[in-house]
Amino acid sequence: MSSPSPSLPTPYTTHVARPEYRSVYEPAEDTFLLLDALEQDRDELRSMAPAVCMEVGSGSGCVATFLGQLLEGARPCIWATDINPAANRCTLETGRVNGVRAGLEAVQTSLARGLAGRMRGMVDVLVFNPPYVVTVSEEVVRPPAPGNGRDLAAAAWAGGVDGREVVDEFWPDVDTLLSPGGVFYLVAIAENRPLEIIGYLASRFGLAGSVALSRKAGCEHLCVLKFRRHGALAA
Ligand SMILES: C[S@@+](CC[C@H](N)C(=O)[O-])C[C@H]1O[C@@H](n2cnc3c(N)ncnc32)[C@H](O)[C@@H]1O
Repeated sequence: MSSPSPSLPTPYTTHVARPEYRSVYEPAEDTFLLLDALEQDRDELRSMAPAVCMEVGSGSGCVATFLGQLLEGARPCIWATDINPAANRCTLETGRVNGVRAGLEAVQTSLARGLAGRMRGMVDVLVFNPPYVVTVSEEVVRPPAPGNGRDLAAAAWAGGVDGREVVDEFWPDVDTLLSPGGVFYLVAIAENRPLEIIGYLASRFGLAGSVALSRKAGCEHLCVLKFRRHGALAA
């Protein structure tokens, strides 16, 4: 019997504390739960040999970098989008300081705008830890993103009504981007009504969803949802 592979270390992100990154989301419990969900599926993800991965809302770049480390053998191209240009710069720096440079691309855009068309059906691993906190709609940061660091910081958490306003705009892109055997991981909290999300993506796009991991962190009931196309087999 072979022994289990050791855990991968969390990428270094100490540079996020620097003033030029003051609007960038510092990795927190939600980030770490997403890393845990990816690591839990390490064998499955590696056996898929993904050619293209995408993280939407990459923030510090901790998750995109972790994906690069987890899938090192497959050497996928990793696209990391964020509405915040400081997050784009921070993502590239996190990749660099952790030795993940080749194949990591940071793009300033909203969601996957400008990429979804040309990457239709190509993304094998798609991840999104969205701004999920319930707020009034006016707090949601919409494109074009303001240049002021304070407003951009709100992009990290302000999710509008039910914390769903940003992520609800992303559903058509999930269907467009995912490759036939692709997998999509999404962070949510209880207030986002995760079971309703699973039901909606199943009925509207034929995506089979489940709760991959869940955890209580302070007052948040966090979970990571995992989706595949109905009928797609795990690798
Ligand atoms: C909760 S933070 C997650 C950051 C990082 N992925 C992590 O797990 O630590 C949400 C991220 O989404 C970004 N974001 C918010 N609205 C966005 C949009 N419309 N398009 C792209 N990124 C967006 C924010 O700037 C922020 O970096």
